Amino acid sequence: MTHSFPQHGIALAPMRHLTQGPFWQILNQYGAPDAYVSEFVRVHKNFTLNPRQIEDNLAYADKCPLWIQLMGNDPNALLRNAEIVQKYPIAGIDFNVGCPVPKIYKKQTGGGLLRNLPLLKILIGSLRAGCSKPLSVKMRIGFEHTENFEKILDILCEAQVDCITIHARTVKDRYEGQIRYDFVRRAVEKLPIPIIANGDMNTLDDIKHVLSFTRCWGTMLGRAAIRNPWIFSQWRSHSKGDPIDYPRYKHVFEYLQQVDKTFKLNRNADPLGLLKNFCKYIGPAIDGDFLKQILKSSTEFEFWIRCEQGLLKGGQGEKVFRGGVVRTGEIL
Ligand SMILES: Cc1cc2nc3c(=O)[nH]c(=O)nc-3n(C[C@H](O)[C@H](O)[C@H](O)COP(=O)(O)O)c2cc1C
Repeated sequence: MTHSFPQHGIALAPMRHLTQGPFWQILNQYGAPDAYVSEFVRVHKNFTLNPRQIEDNLAYADKCPLWIQLMGNDPNALLRNAEIVQKYPIAGIDFNVGCPVPKIYKKQTGGGLLRNLPLLKILIGSLRAGCSKPLSVKMRIGFEHTENFEKILDILCEAQVDCITIHARTVKDRYEGQIRYDFVRRAVEKLPIPIIANGDMNTLDDIKHVLSFTRCWGTMLGRAAIRNPWIFSQWRSHSKGDPIDYPRYKHVFEYLQQVDKTFKLNRNADPLGLLKNFCKYIGPAIDGDFLKQILKSSTEFEFWIRCEQGLLKGGQGEKVFRGGVVRTGEIL
């Protein structure tokens, strides 16, 4: 996230099966972010990427620079696939060094690389060799502890990566543990490359706080973007000093309809599951027992009845939707 990524810009975080192509189409209407990152492409030893996969991603990402994320533990396979990927008009390649899923990290892949630094060094070296486009790394602050944080930064810096996104938690903290922006600040102070902060930013105030506390180049949002797809245009208004336009609950209802329609057009096989999944992120920002009711739905029909109840009926539709939720931990 360098040349094409503006200072204080916001990237959309990759969230497998959620913040991908169809969601990018939706964001094109609500206000696109400054960069998209694909969900990880798992690069096994004998894997060769199907160009179709990149072409599909590019077709969706026509309004915004696209980074293709690779994840793997085989240097030759990563090199081979990086060479294929970089032939396409993408912004760069992102390497996943943070995935907290046990079956992934136990294979020295994703977040598992944070406890095998010699292998991390080899893989980054290999990717750098195969990648003349910008190379970024999306990492966490450690595997189980943070003692190696500086060593990890040294490895990435020596390999001349162009940018680092830091999800400011350890792998073992998954998505809920204490968020540690002080580590983002340490990286900013130590390295001469853009650092992007990620994790638990829910509101414009959170973004402002993280930018001023860490002095990072930009930020990346995942769950907040699903909850509040208006956040990118709200941030632009804020940056220009314009008034912020807050949607109402009836607009959240329309957004859910849009999600349903767009993912169905893209052959989503489990519409109810997807809608509930979106509501898991949106629900905590809606008053009352909206989420509890939604999760009880066993058919799409029932889902929409409950949605109408929580978002439209009894004057609910005119309520202002601010999109914020309570943080999972205090800011450090
Ligand atoms: C369901 C889900 C899927 C995710 N998939 C990916 C992925 O493919 N690649 C990746 O680097 N991070 C992935 N992440 C992590 C997010 O990109 C992000 O780092 C994390 O959600 C913290 O940011 P947030 O608090 O803004 O959501 C995923 C997270 C979730 C919850």
